[in-house]
Amino acid sequence: MNNSTLYIILFGVFILTCYSCEEETGNDESNDLISLEDIEYNPIAFEVDSPPGYPLLVSPDDNPLTEDGINLGRHLFYDPILSVDSTMSCASCHDLQLSFTDASATSIGVDGLSGMRNSMSLVNIGYNYRGLFWDGRVQTLEEQALLPIEDPIELHHSWTDLVDQLRRHEDYPRLFRKAFGITNTEGITKELAAKAIAQFERILISGGNSKYNKVKYLNTDVFTDSELHGEDLFIDTGDSDVIDAECSHCHNGGLFMGDDFFNNGLDSTADYTNLLDLGRGGVTGFDVDKGKFKAPTLRNITITAPYMHDGRFNTLDEVIEHYNSGGHPAPNVDQNIKMLNLSDYDKQALLDFLSTLTDTTYKYPELVSNPHN
Ligand code: HEC
Ligand code: HEC
Repeated sequence: MNNSTLYIILFGVFILTCYSCEEETGNDESNDLISLEDIEYNPIAFEVDSPPGYPLLVSPDDNPLTEDGINLGRHLFYDPILSVDSTMSCASCHDLQLSFTDASATSIGVDGLSGMRNSMSLVNIGYNYRGLFWDGRVQTLEEQALLPIEDPIELHHSWTDLVDQLRRHEDYPRLFRKAFGITNTEGITKELAAKAIAQFERILISGGNSKYNKVKYLNTDVFTDSELHGEDLFIDTGDSDVIDAECSHCHNGGLFMGDDFFNNGLDSTADYTNLLDLGRGGVTGFDVDKGKFKAPTLRNITITAPYMHDGRFNTLDEVIEHYNSGGHPAPNVDQNIKMLNLSDYDKQALLDFLSTLTDTTYKYPELVSNPHN
């Protein structure tokens, strides 16, 4: 090695050291402020075309859907940058192949810790207006998206650090500019990140190609005898020869979802003190709400095992058996939970009917998958 090469190397080391010490001590964010005004900001509204039978999809006034907003949300949702050690993203627990659930009874976060609850399907989540999570404790997707980042049993990152990473990232400043028109990197905030994720979640729409929709709305298919019988059991059609399994009291409308919280008899309790998870009661504090949970959508239910808020049932057969048995006693068990006396044929028919609600395609297939692959 000649002298000049050595000097070049030493100079390089000097520059690098200075750069990294500035990184460590450089708290003055204005040093990092980069103007984005050269990048075009031309938001294009995204109009959702909902499948027939679905409610109206309404976005908050301050977060209308745009193509670039959805695109940014999609990048964030799938990006492991969201977790403290860059190993997990939202998609780790909300997997496209599993209708945006994971296959665990209770989800495991970045530190190997798990909570008490089963991951929930995000399919058609934009139509959910009755509170998010199993206990409905959060109202909007914008509020919800802020939470997993810092949750110690989920991504366990810090928003301050994550926002810093996003501001310095090679792609995100441009994506935030295009989505929200920010003028410089300091405009990147957790609130805008959450808004973008919420926009992405609103277009996770599925069900239009389910057998159920083909039969009911498109007239391109017909139910088998078993599926038809299952529908009779599920929805009280007034046919006195068929048992009313009461399902549609709590799972109804185009999304087969409840608009309230119910105790569906999962655990015996006399005074609620032995319940491991108070569900809605943990939010309101009222005894009458303890052990009540959201009645989730049954769209895509065949691909979201295991089932219930704690993932206690591995199969839909077990779920049907639970309802057939009349469940366990508690003071607030819903009156529609009762012994059903279903025959084997009835049980199979219910299962066959539930299967017609599955649709593995998406309304906007080109927008839902991982953009980093
Ligand atoms: C470690 C696994 C895990 C990660 C990571 C995770 N989630 Fe979840 N998600 C869950 C679990 C478990 C629930 C149910 C929690 C509850 O009811 O308390 C849930 C519930 C939700 C819900 C409510 C759905 C409904 O039907 O009410 C939304 C929306 C959601 N997650 C979005 C996200 C987003 C967005 C991210 C990334 C920013 C994310 N999740 C990251 C496990 C996870
Ligand atoms: C009284 C209201 C009520 C009735 C009646 C009812 N359900 Fe439910 N269902 C719920 C609630 C609440 C949950 C979530 C409970 C929990 O996890 O603690 C649930 C959960 C489920 C799940 C699991 C969902 C998931 O994502 O894990 C399935 C499947 C299901 N119900 C099917 C049915 C069928 C089939 C019937 C009729 C035989 C029925 N339900 C009747 C309220 C009801």
